[in-house]
Amino acid sequence: MLLAPRTKVIVITGNDEKENSLKAIEMGAHDFYHKPIDDEILTVIVNRAFVIANIERENESLKNFSLASNGFIGTSPEMQHVCRLVERIAPTDVTTLLLGESGTGKEVLARAIHNQSSRANKPFIAINCASIPENLLESELFGYEKGAFTGANKTTEGKIEFAGGGTLFLDEIGDMSYSLQAKILRFLQEKVITRVGGRKDIPVDIRIVCATHQDLQNMVADKSFREDLFYRISEITINIPPLRERGEDIVLLARTFLQLDAKQMGKRITGLSDEAIEALMQHSWPGNVRELQNKIKSAAIMCDSKQINASDLSLKVNTSQLPIELNLKKVREDAEKYAVSRAISLCNGNISNTASILGITRPTLYSLMEKYALQKESV
Ligand SMILES: Nc1ncnc2c1ncn2[C@@H]1O[C@H](COP(=O)(O)OP(=O)(O)O)[C@@H](O)[C@H]1O
Ligand SMILES: [Mg+2]
Repeated sequence: MLLAPRTKVIVITGNDEKENSLKAIEMGAHDFYHKPIDDEILTVIVNRAFVIANIERENESLKNFSLASNGFIGTSPEMQHVCRLVERIAPTDVTTLLLGESGTGKEVLARAIHNQSSRANKPFIAINCASIPENLLESELFGYEKGAFTGANKTTEGKIEFAGGGTLFLDEIGDMSYSLQAKILRFLQEKVITRVGGRKDIPVDIRIVCATHQDLQNMVADKSFREDLFYRISEITINIPPLRERGEDIVLLARTFLQLDAKQMGKRITGLSDEAIEALMQHSWPGNVRELQNKIKSAAIMCDSKQINASDLSLKVNTSQLPIELNLKKVREDAEKYAVSRAISLCNGNISNTASILGITRPTLYSLMEKYALQKESV
C-alpha cells in the first residue's frame, strides 16, 4: 500500500465474518466479498473497482489541471500536499492563513483559492500591508467619508467594500499595526465596516485570505500581534515549504520558466546542462521561486549556446565533494564551512538567527566566520 496507495483492496472473508468485513471497509478497503468464491460475481466486483479507480484518477488529474491553470507548478510531495489542502478549502469560506518565506508562492496560492471558489467571478483584491503607510492603510481598507480628513474630497469606497462578494488577500498581515489589527478583527467578527469619518455600519460579504513570512505565534508571544486576531485568521493554516525543500520542483520550475523566457526573447535554448542542474540543486534559494525566476531570466539573457550552463546562472557550485576527501580534519572543516555559509544565506545574514539554527553562540559564529573567511553578505 505504501508503494501504491491508491490500490483498491477487496477483502474476501468467510461467510459468517460480517464484523470483520465491516471493519475492513472502515479501515479503507474498497469492498468485501463473502466466500464461497463465485467467479462471475467476483469478476463484476473487480471490474467495478477498476471503473471507480479510473474515475478517481481522472478526477485527480482534473484537479491538478485546475491548479496548473492558475500557473501553479509543483509535483513534489510537499507541494502536492499543499495543492490538496488548497483544493479542499477553496470551495469553503474558511479564513486561511498562508505561511511561507518570501517568494514561495503565497500570492499565487491565494489567487488559486479565489479562482477555485464560488466567488471566482467576483473581485480578488490584494493588499500588501507592509507597503502602505499605517495611516493610509485604514482608509485604503475601509474607505472614507467626504471631509474625514484633509484631502478627502469625496466619499470613497475602501478595498473591503470594493471586494464585495469576492476575496480580500491581506498580504504581510504581520506588518499591520496593532491598532488596525483591532479594526480588522471587528470586521471579521461582525462582517460590517465603518468608513473613516463615517458612522454607518456597512455589511460586507467577503472571504479573507492572509499571508505572512513572519512567525505570528512568536509575535503573539511578544504582544506585537493580537492573539484574538491570530486565531480568527488562522482557521486553516497552510505552510508553504521553501523551494530548497521541494527537490525535483526546482528543475521543473526552472525548465518551465526557461521555456517561457526563451520564447519571449526569441532565443533557441533547449534546456539546462547537467552542471547547471547541479548548481540549481545545490543553491539554497533564500528568495525562493521569485529568485529562481529571476536567475533563469538573466541566465537566458546571458546564454549564447543551446543550453544554459552553470556559468550562465552565476551560482557557486560546491565542488568540494569531488574528488572525495578522506582526511577527516578536512572533511569536518568542509562540512562546518558549508553548514555555516548555508545557514548565513538562509538567515539573510542575520547573525542571531544564524547562530541559533546552528546551535552555537554568536561569538563562536564570529570566530567560525573569521576562520573560513565568510562574510555576512557574500554567502
Ligand atoms: N509553484 C509556482 N509555480 C509557478 N510560479 C510560481 C510558483 N510559486 C511562485 N511562483 C512565482 O514566483 C513569484 C513569487 O510568488 P508570490 O506568490 O508573489 O510569492 P510570495 O507572495 O510568497 O512572496 C511570482 O512571480 C509567482 O508567479
Ligand atoms: Mg507576496
